[in-house]
Amino acid sequence: MSLLLGSTSDFFGLDIGTTAVRLVQLQGPSNAKALLKYAYVPVDPATALSDAKSDQQKLAQMIAQLVSQARVTTKNVAVGIPSSRVFTTVADVDRLPPNELAKAIPLQADALIPTPLSESTIDWALLGDSPADKSKQEILLTSVTNKFVEDRLDMLESIGLNVMAFEPDNLAMARALTTPDTPGAQLLLDVGHRSTDLVIVLNGAPHLTRSIPTGIESFLKAASQTLNIDNKQAEQFVFKFGLSREKLEGQIFQAISGTVDLLVTEVEKSIKFFQTRYTNIKVEKAVVTGGAAVVPEFPLYIANKFGINVEIGNAWRNVTFSQDRQNEMLAISNQFSVAAGLAERNS
Ligand SMILES: Nc1ncnc2c1ncn2[C@@H]1O[C@H](COP(=O)(O)OP(=O)(O)O)[C@@H](O)[C@H]1O
Ligand SMILES: [Mg+2]
Repeated sequence: MSLLLGSTSDFFGLDIGTTAVRLVQLQGPSNAKALLKYAYVPVDPATALSDAKSDQQKLAQMIAQLVSQARVTTKNVAVGIPSSRVFTTVADVDRLPPNELAKAIPLQADALIPTPLSESTIDWALLGDSPADKSKQEILLTSVTNKFVEDRLDMLESIGLNVMAFEPDNLAMARALTTPDTPGAQLLLDVGHRSTDLVIVLNGAPHLTRSIPTGIESFLKAASQTLNIDNKQAEQFVFKFGLSREKLEGQIFQAISGTVDLLVTEVEKSIKFFQTRYTNIKVEKAVVTGGAAVVPEFPLYIANKFGINVEIGNAWRNVTFSQDRQNEMLAISNQFSVAAGLAERNS
C-alpha cells in the first residue's frame, strides 16, 4: 500500500435512506479524495422505515447485494443514522483538558438528552467559544438510543460488515456540501421522503441541526388529494412543474404551496432560534439538496421567502472524478450528500 499515491480508503459510506440505499467509497489523501465506487438501490419506504425483524432482514439482504455488486473493496463501513432518530443540541461546557472533558460531558448530558444516559449513545464536537458565556466553550451534543444503534449493528454484522462509525445523516450531509473554510452562516436543507434535515453551518461547522417532519411525501399527498390524481401522476407533476405559477396554470403550485409553507415556517423558526444565540450573524446563503433540489422553482421559492441566495447542493464538491463522468455524477448529486459525507470522514 502506497501512502504517497493515495491508498484506497479502508471503509465506505452507507446511507440507508427511506427510498434508496446508497454507498460511496473514496480513495486518496484526505484533502483530495477521488471517487472509487458509488452505487444505489431503490427500496420500499415501508420496508426501510419498519423496525420489524423480517423487514430488517430484507433490507440487510439488499445492502449485501448492493455492496457485492458494486465490488466495494472493504467490509469496513461508516453508517448514517436518520436524523429523526437523533437528538441534537448545543451546550456550554467548562474549559477543560480533553480527557477531563470526556468525563464531564456525559454527566452534563444526562440532564440535556431526552432518553436515560444509560440507554443512550452520546457524541459531541467542540465548536469553540460560547457566544453566551465568555468563560465557557460550546459543544454540539448528539444522542441516539442504544437500541437503535444495536439493531443497526446486528443487521450490518449479519451480512459480514464491520461498522467503524455511526454518524447522524445531517452531519454527514453538511460535510459533503461545505468545506471547513466555508465562511459565514449557511442554511443547508436536505428534503427527504418523510422529513427534511436542516443544518446551519457557521464557519464550516454545524451549529444547529433539526429534523422537520415534512418532506417530498407530503408534497405528493397534497398534490394527489387536491387534484384528485394518483401518487404516480402527482410525482410526475410535482417533479415536472414544481412551484411554477405558470406551468399547468399554476395548479401544482396552488396544490402544494401550503405544504411547502409548513416547511418554510419551520425553517424560519430555526433561523430565528439560531439568531437568538448567535446575534448579529446573518444567514447569508441556503443550499438545497434531496428531493426538493429537483422540484422546479423550489430553490427560487426559498430564495424569495428569505431574501437570500440559494444554491443547489453538490454532493461531490470535495470529491474528484474524471471529467467525462461530470454529467453522470451531477444527475445523482441530490441523492448522495449523506453517503458522500460519510465516505469523506477521516476515520
Ligand atoms: N431525481 C429525483 N426524481 C424524483 N424524486 C427524487 C429524485 N431525487 C430524489 N427524489 C425524492 O427525494 C426523496 C429522497 O429521499 P431519501 O433520501 O430516500 O429519504 P430520506 O432522506 O428521507 O431517508 C424521496 O422522496 C425521493 O423520491
Ligand atoms: Mg436522505
